[in-house]
Amino acid sequence: MTNDIFFEMHQDLPREGPGRDKYTRKALEMLPVSDKPRILDVGCGSGGPTLELVRLSQGEIVGLDIHQPFLDRLTRKIEEAGLSDRVKAVNCSMFEMDFPDASFDIIWAECSIFIIGFERGLKEWRRFLKPNGCLVVHEMTWLRPDPPQEIYDYWKEYYPGIRTVEENLEQIPGYDYELIGHFTLPENAWWIEYYGPLEKRIQELRLKYIDDPKALVVLDKEQREIDMFKKYHKWYGSAFFVMQKK
Ligand SMILES: C[S@@+](CC[C@H](N)C(=O)[O-])C[C@H]1O[C@@H](n2cnc3c(N)ncnc32)[C@H](O)[C@@H]1O
Repeated sequence: MTNDIFFEMHQDLPREGPGRDKYTRKALEMLPVSDKPRILDVGCGSGGPTLELVRLSQGEIVGLDIHQPFLDRLTRKIEEAGLSDRVKAVNCSMFEMDFPDASFDIIWAECSIFIIGFERGLKEWRRFLKPNGCLVVHEMTWLRPDPPQEIYDYWKEYYPGIRTVEENLEQIPGYDYELIGHFTLPENAWWIEYYGPLEKRIQELRLKYIDDPKALVVLDKEQREIDMFKKYHKWYGSAFFVMQKK
């Protein structure tokens, strides 16, 4: 039930996390040119980034997620765009990936590495990359090292793995990647395709579930995340980390 409301909130949003096509594109353009790369999009959701990658790269993409309705939506979007021959939607957990070693030129993870953890993702996904293959991660980060107590406590509860950009950068060489580059996204990358549409959806669902206290708890929790961002966006945001396997 809790999960149903959660997915009702998130279904058909442009993205399931902060981000915009232009930043997906910017990160892709930082990579060494590769002809028809084979790409793994980990935690692809309904494929906001996946679609942009397939349009830009001429490559083949595996979109991997555990939520079948997101994958079904990705499949519909691919069919509508006439790209079914180049994109495959796979229902599999990132904890159980068993692709052969050196299967991919690029591994892409927008707003999903937090599920396995930044360091564990870097460590475990490396073997799936071909020699000189690239890992691109878009991850939530502290933008300042001195967050106020309220937001520090909030993320300590919901995402204790959050770090500053610099702390994430420090991890990269230890897992045998070279940093190609990194950049932080502006505040509006959280609003335009994610929190904006999500907040509107929460307001609609509040009316639909007005007599359902359990549903309202779920909606309140999601609204609180948005309210935290409104109040504290100067202290946290998200960044792309673009890396190459050594
Ligand atoms: C915040 S969303 C990001 C989706 C997409 N990358 C985007 O930027 O729009 C995180 C995604 O990870 C998926 N996910 C959660 N646990 C997962 C797991 N164990 N393995 C693979 N995907 C998972 C969720 O279903 C969701 O689609």
